[in-house]
Amino acid sequence: MTTKTTPQNQTFDVAILMGSQSDWPIMKEAADMLDMLGISNEARIISAHRTPEKLRDFAMGAKDAGFKVIIAGAGGAAHLPGVTASMTLLPVLGVPVLGKSLSGADALYSIVQMPGGIPVGCLGIGAAGAKNAALLAAAMLATTDDALHARLQAYRDDMVKNAREFPVDP
Ligand code: RP5
Repeated sequence: MTTKTTPQNQTFDVAILMGSQSDWPIMKEAADMLDMLGISNEARIISAHRTPEKLRDFAMGAKDAGFKVIIAGAGGAAHLPGVTASMTLLPVLGVPVLGKSLSGADALYSIVQMPGGIPVGCLGIGAAGAKNAALLAAAMLATTDDALHARLQAYRDDMVKNAREFPVDP
């Protein structure tokens, strides 16, 4: 089994939170994209309803711990991003994870419809949302990091270069 571990005293630009181990196959898309862009990140399982004290400690200490952006993914009644956002001024990007019953629509509505005053930047459902959360975090960090800006530009340039002009048969 491979895990993303936390060496003592190391700081990370982005925290990737998820409510359960079962969210990891989706949230790994965010970690992989951040890794590809050279952005330090740490993934943690913290649940708003199973381990609320742990979430409180994490969210209230996240800025002092050196994090700059938090990505939070959860499924079902996905309150993890909103509760996290209520306890930190760091930007929180929410990823609705597909559940077993409602194809992620429950999580999407839970995350996107924050009452005015406590914002969560909600991405799309599932893997695409997790990947885009990483790219949005990268865009935020790139506003004060020219080297990252150049890496993000190179990622876009590659996408343009590799886009097909004409379709081919599957
Ligand atoms: C949420 O409940 C998690 O984010 C997960 O998406 C969902 C189901 O969790 P498990 O029952 O798979 O642990 O808190």
